[in-house]
Amino acid sequence: MKLTERVYLCGSGAFGISPDGDCHCYVIAAIDELILIDCGLSPDPSEILCNIKRDGLDPKKLKYLLLTHAHPDHANACAWFRASTGVRIWASEYEAGVLENGLLETVGLETDNDPGLEQFRRMNRLRADGVLCDGETLNIGDLTVTALLTPGHTHGSMCFEVEINGKKMLFAGDEVFYNGFISVLAPPLSDYANYRRGLARLCGRGIDGLFPSHLMWTLRGGQKHIDKAMRNFTERQRPDLKLYS
Ligand SMILES: [Fe+2]
Repeated sequence: MKLTERVYLCGSGAFGISPDGDCHCYVIAAIDELILIDCGLSPDPSEILCNIKRDGLDPKKLKYLLLTHAHPDHANACAWFRASTGVRIWASEYEAGVLENGLLETVGLETDNDPGLEQFRRMNRLRADGVLCDGETLNIGDLTVTALLTPGHTHGSMCFEVEINGKKMLFAGDEVFYNGFISVLAPPLSDYANYRRGLARLCGRGIDGLFPSHLMWTLRGGQKHIDKAMRNFTERQRPDLKLYS
């Protein structure tokens, strides 16, 4: 589903275009190469590939899978995508570790009896192809993607900024949502102590399109939603929490 020039929604359980539980998955179309932002929960995400084809894009051009973080609804389909398309998977160092070793093991949680964490236990594991540092840029086709390390929702969350025809698009994962909502999980799964620092990385950037991994996106004025989230920390000292996907 084309959202705006070069930006497509190719997966989303909430919008009913891929299996339940999938986060919003986006494709950015550079010349001759496609970038997938997150890939969903389903172990068989072929519907996402069908959506990419339906939008007139060539899945053979899928070269980069950039993970905002390694939660199952964003990353469980990584193995399928790499095996099916040859896409290379990139994440922050922390999230690459989660992908390889498991979230519960990484944060040191023993939760044998907690059914709410079962999806983390069952998550497919694999080694990322590349690790991204804060501020690192990837030149992909005619586009430049900047990786921004934004701890908060998770310890290693990243947002990805790309300028398309003079407009700044931000793929924000679960770090910040439309209307300034943020997503804090029970400790130690989130990094609440550093959430403000993570949001500060997104302030003053003049973001136009804000594309989070859940809820609504916007094509213009994205910065004001980020700024609202920050104001909730600095002025109200009470964030608005996103309670559902
Ligand atoms: Fe998440």
